[in-house]
Amino acid sequence: MQRVNTVAELRDTVKAWRSAGQSVALVPTMGNLHAGHLALVNEAQNNADRVVVSIFVNPTQFGVGEDFEAYPRTEAEDRQKLTACGADLLFQPAVSEVYRSGAKTLVSVSGLSEWYCGAFRPGHFDGVATVVCKLFNIVQPNVALFGLKDFQQLTVIRTMVRDLNIPVEIVGVATVREASGLAMSSRNGYLSAEEKTTAAKLYQTLCVARDAILAGQSSYEEIERKAMLFLQASGFQPDYFSVCRVSDLKKADKDDSDLVLLAAARLSKTRLIDNICFSRNPQSRSEALLSKGGGGDLKAKS
Ligand code: PAF
Repeated sequence: MQRVNTVAELRDTVKAWRSAGQSVALVPTMGNLHAGHLALVNEAQNNADRVVVSIFVNPTQFGVGEDFEAYPRTEAEDRQKLTACGADLLFQPAVSEVYRSGAKTLVSVSGLSEWYCGAFRPGHFDGVATVVCKLFNIVQPNVALFGLKDFQQLTVIRTMVRDLNIPVEIVGVATVREASGLAMSSRNGYLSAEEKTTAAKLYQTLCVARDAILAGQSSYEEIERKAMLFLQASGFQPDYFSVCRVSDLKKADKDDSDLVLLAAARLSKTRLIDNICFSRNPQSRSEALLSKGGGGDLKAKS
């Protein structure tokens, strides 16, 4: 696997591929790679001739007091994993390569970026949209792959791509889970063994709520209230638990059939997010429900 640190080197390599008629997929990451990231690379290989993986811990998406400095950086292990799974190019720029001094431009997807996680992490999605837009301009991929686990992030990126006419196909890839159901995340490394057992209850709560809706429970407020209480009783400090419609993440009403339940909760110092996406209508063909990897979730291969 080739590794480059500058935009100029990246562009030279991608240009040579393009001249040879090859298509390019981009998998943007912040490193500390786990099975969820490797599933993105795997799916990228099914979608393009060449796969670029970026590793960049993006400072603009971390708020004051968040874990930017402490965010796990595991460069040697990440390189080994990417080589083993056959990625073609690792782009690992320094902060000064991505953000030139005096930069004045920010990409902001209004509304959506202020709800749910955006309400608890002000500015977070502006940082995400800005860096992803820059990566799209730098790499100019045919296709880019993102995990469904960060469902709001995926919706922000899809909206940005639509609104700015960026010529890239966005593919959402199913969440990879541990045997307990806990969604793979770079931040799971902050959890103790005991906390990991509790953390799995976030997904269990989502499953219970989904099953209640599929069984005909139509008071979504009641479902949200019960889920918040259950999470609190289990030791979490929940930020939100919301029944939303897949298309625009607005609160769902009884006429919506494609739903996503979004949840975020803190367990000690670790903030966990997860979601579950499903349809009340078996014929549904919503894009998110047709994500690569099946019905939204995958169990990790051990
Ligand atoms: O999901 C992530 O790892 C990051 O938010 C992303 C998309 C790489 C942007 O920094």
